[in-house]
Amino acid sequence: MRTYRWGILGLGNIARKFAADLAHVPGASLHAVASRSEDKAQAFAAEFGAAHAVGSYEALTAVPDLDVVYIATPHSEHHAHALLCLRAGIAVLCEKPFTVNAIQAQELVAVAQARGVFLMEAFWTRYFPAVAHALELLQAGAIGEVKHLVADFGGFMPYEPLGRLFNPNLAGGSLLDIGVYPLFLSQLFLGQPTAVEAISVAAGTGVDLSCAMSLAYANGATASLASTLAAPLDNQCVLYGTRGQLRLLGPMYAPHGVRVQLPGQAAQEFSYPPPGDGYHYEAAHVQQCLAQGLLESPLLPLSSSLTLMRLLDAVRQRIGLRYPGEGGG
Ligand SMILES: NC(=O)c1ccc[n+]([C@@H]2O[C@H](COP(=O)([O-])OP(=O)(O)OC[C@H]3O[C@@H](n4cnc5c(N)ncnc54)[C@H](OP(=O)(O)O)[C@@H]3O)[C@@H](O)[C@H]2O)c1
Repeated sequence: MRTYRWGILGLGNIARKFAADLAHVPGASLHAVASRSEDKAQAFAAEFGAAHAVGSYEALTAVPDLDVVYIATPHSEHHAHALLCLRAGIAVLCEKPFTVNAIQAQELVAVAQARGVFLMEAFWTRYFPAVAHALELLQAGAIGEVKHLVADFGGFMPYEPLGRLFNPNLAGGSLLDIGVYPLFLSQLFLGQPTAVEAISVAAGTGVDLSCAMSLAYANGATASLASTLAAPLDNQCVLYGTRGQLRLLGPMYAPHGVRVQLPGQAAQEFSYPPPGDGYHYEAAHVQQCLAQGLLESPLLPLSSSLTLMRLLDAVRQRIGLRYPGEGGG
């Protein structure tokens, strides 16, 4: 098996978790790390055993023999940082939300395709075995026809107006940071809605503190989704079908199992505990794609990332949330 040499761009919270989980991926090596601070890059490289540490993101693209870069910067920066790597011909795994809006996402896709470079959204949930099994069960009709989906993601986050979660300049707010997960699962399990309604409560900075979404589908299904930075929620995903219920076990963003409950019967449970936090699934999938010479993931094609960004745009239009630079006041 060949070795894939990874780079990480932006060395914050998630970069640390990703670097730790790379140890669970056969054939993965942390080759280079890039920070805006040389000292931070050096310390990170020493801790996680990276061969190269650079003190600017531009310098990362000059590191020799890099196979793929994981982009772990705030939402507002994904577009520029992904473009930086794609234009240098380096494959990209970019954190969620893919970009701030669909226009930015379209540009990434266009550049990746024009250059023939691999690009994938780091929507880690998609690559969990529990999610694959849930899809199989639903397709096999385990709970009949799905008629309703409930999913939410919430936590209490201290209010820091300049921090990543609340700062409009970093495209903060509950929807883009965590509401994107329920929305992603609704798209995965139910497809594209025919109607989207949403309501939000703003934080002091103007970004959404909480967002509640209602969606309807051509087949008669509906979905109730929520996100908040104000209180811990159940972080659940439950699908209600004509014959029973299917629930992702554990937090719906990183599920470790599936439960199927049919009326009058014992629940069936399937368990898939990850060895680490579960970031290794997406990294291993990227390596499989690269090994096959693919330019996008068959599990999360770029068209899905684009439709998800359009859904986020539609929700933001309903709640009247625009970020600096998007225009329209
Ligand atoms: N998949 C998941 O489970 C998961 C979980 C949490 C977050 N995320 C996503 O991962 C991304 C990063 O989140 P995080 O929690 O790791 O954030 P974080 O701790 O704030 O780290 C972000 C890093 O981005 C870099 N950066 C570049 N420009 C920046 C700017 N203008 N302001 C602040 N930082 C800047 C900094 O790295 P340097 O100082 O090294 O340059 C910073 O440490 C976001 O897209 C978020 O949605 C995903």
